Amino acid sequence: MADAQAVAEAVAERLLQERRASRQRPLGLATGRTMVPVYGALRRQFGRLRAPEQQAIRQGWLSFNLDEYVGLAPTDPGSFAAFMADQLQGPLGLAPAQVQLPDGLTADPRQEAGRYRQALVAAGGIGLQLLGLGSNGHVGFNEPPCGPEAPCRCLALSAATRAQNAAAFGGDAGAVPRQAITLGLAEILAAERILLVVTGAAKATILRRALLDPPCPEVPASWLQHHPRLGVLVDRAAAAALPPAC
Ligand code: GLP
Repeated sequence: MADAQAVAEAVAERLLQERRASRQRPLGLATGRTMVPVYGALRRQFGRLRAPEQQAIRQGWLSFNLDEYVGLAPTDPGSFAAFMADQLQGPLGLAPAQVQLPDGLTADPRQEAGRYRQALVAAGGIGLQLLGLGSNGHVGFNEPPCGPEAPCRCLALSAATRAQNAAAFGGDAGAVPRQAITLGLAEILAAERILLVVTGAAKATILRRALLDPPCPEVPASWLQHHPRLGVLVDRAAAAALPPAC
């Protein structure tokens, strides 16, 4: 696709289609800069629907986000809970419980990871999983090295990831929390369908490695190659290192 905006419109259409389908498992949602235009397009497309359709989507909505920083309250502007409240839950008029995230303020992150995994299982597992791609090949916060069986867990964030995400913390990598709770590759690969969304020239090399190199723990996203229903939506800049046939 030509650019990030075209990708965002296409992803938003897929998400809304998914929410209109009769047999619904929860959506798996992602955060990050890649997703800002996606949720913008989703809000606009949702706003153009007729009121009864909007209401049906609202009523049926249930989503589970991939991850959350440990130690941040949902009101902290750096938290993924705040991101989702601003980008999606508030504007679409959803109840907070319809947009699930791990509890960043938990006193026991290990136990919270187990609870979150169980809540997802009880809801039927993910239907469509939306994914971005970290510059180091992570998906969710599954930092390298990471195998395909890694479960939902609390883990330490790499220096590279904390630097990558510093913009949401006033540009200060030191202010980025050191730990996060993330769905594992196990829960991600158990989704019915996966949609990987990658935009921008900075991701071209890691995208090529993720899609074309043999799967390996050093590039956690490469395990997505094992998924039978993986869709990949990229703009021209991110696709620059892929062979023309891809
Ligand atoms: C973040 C998130 C991922 C996200 C990725 C890419 O750390 N945990 O879910 O997909 O890194 O982020 P961005 O879109 O800002 O490049």
